[in-house]
Amino acid sequence: MCGIVGAIAHRNVVPILLQGLQRLEYRGYDSAGLVVVNNGQLERVRSTGRVAELATKSVNTQGFLGIAHTRWATHGVPSERNAHPHISRETIAVAHNGIIENYEELRARLSAQGYQFTSDTDTEVIAHLIHSHYSKGNSLLAATQMALTELVGAYAIGVTAADNPNLLICARKGSPLLIGVGENEHFFASDASALLQVTKKMVYLEEGDVAEVNLDSYSVFNAKGELVVRPAHISELTNESVELGDYKHYMQKEIHEQPQALADTLEAVCNSHSLVPGIFGAEAAATFADINSVLILACGTSFHAGLVARYWLEEIAGIPCNVEIASEYRYRVSVGNPKALVVTISQSGETADTQSALNHAKSMGQPHTLSICNVPESALVRMSKLRLLTRAGPEIGVASTKAFTTQLAALFLLTLVLAKQRGRLTKESEQKHLHELRHLPSAAKSVLGIEPVIAKLAERFADKHHALFLGRGLHYPIALEGALKLKEISYIHAEAYPAGELKHGPLALVDKDMPVIAVAPNDILLEKLKSNLQEVRARGGELYVFADANTRIHSSEGVNLIQMPEHAGYLSPILHTIPLQLLSYYVALQKGTDVDKPRNLAKSVTVE
Ligand code: G6P
Repeated sequence: MCGIVGAIAHRNVVPILLQGLQRLEYRGYDSAGLVVVNNGQLERVRSTGRVAELATKSVNTQGFLGIAHTRWATHGVPSERNAHPHISRETIAVAHNGIIENYEELRARLSAQGYQFTSDTDTEVIAHLIHSHYSKGNSLLAATQMALTELVGAYAIGVTAADNPNLLICARKGSPLLIGVGENEHFFASDASALLQVTKKMVYLEEGDVAEVNLDSYSVFNAKGELVVRPAHISELTNESVELGDYKHYMQKEIHEQPQALADTLEAVCNSHSLVPGIFGAEAAATFADINSVLILACGTSFHAGLVARYWLEEIAGIPCNVEIASEYRYRVSVGNPKALVVTISQSGETADTQSALNHAKSMGQPHTLSICNVPESALVRMSKLRLLTRAGPEIGVASTKAFTTQLAALFLLTLVLAKQRGRLTKESEQKHLHELRHLPSAAKSVLGIEPVIAKLAERFADKHHALFLGRGLHYPIALEGALKLKEISYIHAEAYPAGELKHGPLALVDKDMPVIAVAPNDILLEKLKSNLQEVRARGGELYVFADANTRIHSSEGVNLIQMPEHAGYLSPILHTIPLQLLSYYVALQKGTDVDKPRNLAKSVTVE
């Protein structure tokens, strides 16, 4: 989704802005633009398509301060005239992430005042509003603060003025923004990865903050206009962690990073001999003692992680668990339970629907909140009482891979800690689970070994238009995740069903052109699953079966066996995810799609 970069320096900032935008490309976008102040004038370059095109168009553009933006269209089609920054009367330029809900009313008012609109965006009203206050003699800071009080909705903005070459303004409410602190130069961006090439010292703005950013200093004002100090963090991200290295795509790199990401996420527990609630925060023991159920809220792939966790939590910890799609829960009239542990799961920690669902859950008198998240400084982490950070490192590919498997690892830890607290975990079974967790990274590594088999198999999917994924029990959510991956990046229509539901509808779709992908762990549902697979074969469906060792499933006509290692018990969903990620990756390669930036999708969905 949209990205912002701003820079003020004693050097030409255009390369810094462009590199920052390139680093934000993973968020998803359809057009890009930048503006610099040069000799008292705003110089703007915009383009549809990739940042590389914007770079080509900006070769002769120079300035010591500027703002830049990648746009993911919400109001108005993707086009050059709708690309940011938007300019008011050649004086004020604004780049904006988020949605202004009252823009129609503001647009009518500003039009009546004589402001000309040159785009269909909601953002342009912000530029004109700031101009209307600035032209009355207010400082750029005051004019921005005044304008912000009139906006309803979510925003992160960067502002510059043609006649103010020593100052940038930025602000946030509902969309992330941080300041990067350099040596006599300062920056801001919607994501730390955009600034790693210039600084690692980051200051995260809080809700309602407005900041004045100069060459040698910056000042932050809270929503009440009071000068405040926000702590500086040294980012742990490294340049290499956001670079592609020897891989062809970030998705491939991130699939391969899973053994390490799992090891990092599990580090604290794997080096210890017992599980303690403290890994979720200081208040965890008291909180867990007060709960009688779990409510999981998330979107997309993170929602699928929640679905797996429900099986674990109910079976191992014996605690009732509900899992809801955040965008549904936030508007559903439901019954609050003050003793529910509300768990939000999110890679980014910035997903607008998940944040709103958490706020909604709290407003219904549910104070026990826990976030499982990959970004330590994110809004969701800050909004939750307890947290467990996945340590997957930056995930750049839009289709989530290592974030998912590390979320599962974190949710398994939650299950074990709750099971222990509820007296359902013997010393021996705790040690057995810890042993299996320690082995998980190497088990993941060995599953990656089947990559060449899957690369070959993928050739058979290149001409397919539909695919059906089947799983049962713990692995039904893995089938859902496999189908989501395939549609996200290869644009093949894919559906997932619990295999027992086949005869209640989807069997009607099965014929020789419908590949049916089955997740076949060697668990207690195996024989049931085999019967379901017979139903597919009897209708001429081509089966691709990802089966554990010793399932006695063999390749035969219409049955393609992809051999997995031995069954990994409760951790099996984590391992069965990996080949499905690889399958969607290699099918996308066959189809020649933009693997890391699939059409119409965004990485961080910071608007509703
Ligand atoms: C987008 C991404 C998905 C992700 C979902 C939820 O749709 O493309 O990969 O699963 O958002 O994001 P979150 O950051 O909350 O996990």
